[in-house]
Amino acid sequence: MSLTDLIYAGSNAVAGLTEGAVDDAIKKYGESHALGYPDTAYFLPIIYAATGVKIKTLGDLPAAVGILKSLITNKEDLGEALNAGLATAVGAEIIEAIRYLDGDPYANDSGIGFVADPIIRSLGVPLVTGDIPGIAVLLGESSDPAELAVIVKDYQEKGLLTFMVGNIIEQALEAGVKMGLDYRVIPLGHEVTSVIHVVSVAIRAALIFGGIEPGKLAEFLTYTKERVPAFVNTFGELNEVVVSVGAGAIALGFPVIADVPVPEVPGALMTQADHAKTVEFSLEARDIKIKVTKIDVPVSVASAFEGERVRKDTMFAEFGGNKTKCWELVREAELSEIEDHKITVIGPEIDDAQFAGADVVRLPLGILVEVAGKGMQKDFESVLERRIHYFTNYIDGAMHVGQRNIAWIRITKEAYEKGFRLKHIGEVLYAKMRADFDNVVDKCQVTLYTTQEDVARLEEEVVKPIYSQRDDRLNALTDESVDTFYTCTLCQSFAPSHVCVVTPERLGLCGAVSWLDSKATKELDPAGPSQPIEKGVAVDEKIGIWEAVNKTVAAASQGAVERVTLYSILEDPMTSCGCFECICGIMPEANGVVIVNREFGEISPVGMTFGELASMTGGGVQTPGFMGHGRHFIGSKKFMSAEGGLTRIVWMPKELKDDVAERLNKAVLELTGIENFVDMVCDETIATDSEAVLEFLESKGHPALTMDPIM
Ligand code: SF4
Ligand code: NI
Ligand code: NI
Repeated sequence: MSLTDLIYAGSNAVAGLTEGAVDDAIKKYGESHALGYPDTAYFLPIIYAATGVKIKTLGDLPAAVGILKSLITNKEDLGEALNAGLATAVGAEIIEAIRYLDGDPYANDSGIGFVADPIIRSLGVPLVTGDIPGIAVLLGESSDPAELAVIVKDYQEKGLLTFMVGNIIEQALEAGVKMGLDYRVIPLGHEVTSVIHVVSVAIRAALIFGGIEPGKLAEFLTYTKERVPAFVNTFGELNEVVVSVGAGAIALGFPVIADVPVPEVPGALMTQADHAKTVEFSLEARDIKIKVTKIDVPVSVASAFEGERVRKDTMFAEFGGNKTKCWELVREAELSEIEDHKITVIGPEIDDAQFAGADVVRLPLGILVEVAGKGMQKDFESVLERRIHYFTNYIDGAMHVGQRNIAWIRITKEAYEKGFRLKHIGEVLYAKMRADFDNVVDKCQVTLYTTQEDVARLEEEVVKPIYSQRDDRLNALTDESVDTFYTCTLCQSFAPSHVCVVTPERLGLCGAVSWLDSKATKELDPAGPSQPIEKGVAVDEKIGIWEAVNKTVAAASQGAVERVTLYSILEDPMTSCGCFECICGIMPEANGVVIVNREFGEISPVGMTFGELASMTGGGVQTPGFMGHGRHFIGSKKFMSAEGGLTRIVWMPKELKDDVAERLNKAVLELTGIENFVDMVCDETIATDSEAVLEFLESKGHPALTMDPIM
């Protein structure tokens, strides 16, 4: 059979299956029965993107099946055959959605099935920073599980996000691959149709970050081809359904690499039979470049291990976490004062004789990282210091929580058995500081203190005074006190017209970029994503209008956005790219706003979930009344100050409320004299329906109720 014949055979088979499944479902449940995927604001996302049609009930499906069939022309032409591949995708999306009618079909599967909107949003930042350099989709059953495992681990170590479909999931698990979102290896499911859940991720990236209008299929295909760095590896013999799924992938711009002979289409469908070459071959085919830092330690160090937790039963050693002291400090030094790559442990190591036979090794720990370089500035110390958290977490077998002198580190038995010691934390910090901050760090020296005496004494004499100097500096940093704001355009790789304006009192909406970070980024990468805005005189201080800001944003967004205010949610609010930590929306009847964070899965008092609220904005478009922002912005005196500020907040999820309570109370007290403002803010443990929320606000005398009408 020719390639096109194979594709059509698969597409026609899937079309038949889809039609049958739709008929059966309608017979069983009736046309008016609701249909949809969990936790998405985009209905059946592929159909919604391709046609603009919002499928909400089973009765909407027959028309979609008609469209699907019209895509299968059976003409001997590769372009037309690729369209038939898209038909297979649509069919798979329908079949999978029907499977969700009887409850979660993945409840007893090692795969996770549909990927919810908030997870896709959380991937925004690592994708734009290149922390996740690409997306691998693996499918099938491998002739050699050991070789498969090597491939998956290689992708993992390179930081890729890997999705798996078919029996390779069990094969990889048995071969010891660590799996789950926290390890960036995501099992989707066993049925071949579950591959649709990764296609759905790519399509929703275009909806969420790209802001592409539903119905413009060609624009979606261009977006995925140019901006979603994905590719497919198939394992084992290909049947016609897999081939037609592959054709769909190719239509999206994702090359398919098989390990068996296939009719090759250069750049799109290729064979690489040698598993030892699969990774390199695939990365080259999708033009994915990987930056590797060679680090001399006995375990893997990769961003893919960042989310790993170390539990009590797998733990070998622990530092901090209320049991012992644990602090970390990055300090600027003179070039002559330190020795590059000098790593010293002062005090006992974790393999010290005194710990023989101990249940768990507990030691106090002080980590002092000293850096020197001509481009180094005092302001960058805290920027580098915060990276200690990430760098330590990259170690396969280490967990880092907290920061400063509330740091908490655990090391696994597995890592210890492989030879990992405390000094290797020093090696990792050294290598990553040199690699990631090469423009400002010419020399780096790491000292780890583990005696009670040193750790306590240095904390009092050196560490705490430096923290408090920094806090004073940060508190004095206001939007008024600086001459320069910064742009951040990192997210333009996914949201082409989005620009964040970062000021001392308003961090980037992802929560990951503060004004100091931007300043350091400008130094590290002078032509990079953070560019200075000499702010000059404000047109309006209260709403936050600056001529220079408007000009810069217009240029950086290629004219897409001409005016933004920094402090208003209603008048020319800042755009959102999609990866915001929190979304803020107006609750008119309460004369205030609700804020929902990405982790909160339930419905908010405005009748929408985080995902639904989030879908109201994004893609670099201005949407008055909705604003994406970082958690930290909630304690800022500039938080929608044009509309009356922080006292407009009437509802937040409990977890978020607790997280921001201290700063929020302090800021509101200083601004208005109101004490313990947080107690007046409602949360889901108190009420979520509008009336009950209002009752609560009234009982507390919430200030928003008596403020000027918000709209
Ligand atoms: Fe994206 Fe804005 Fe964060 Fe920069 S500051 S990474 S543009 S969200
Ligand atoms: Ni973003
Ligand atoms: Ni904070």
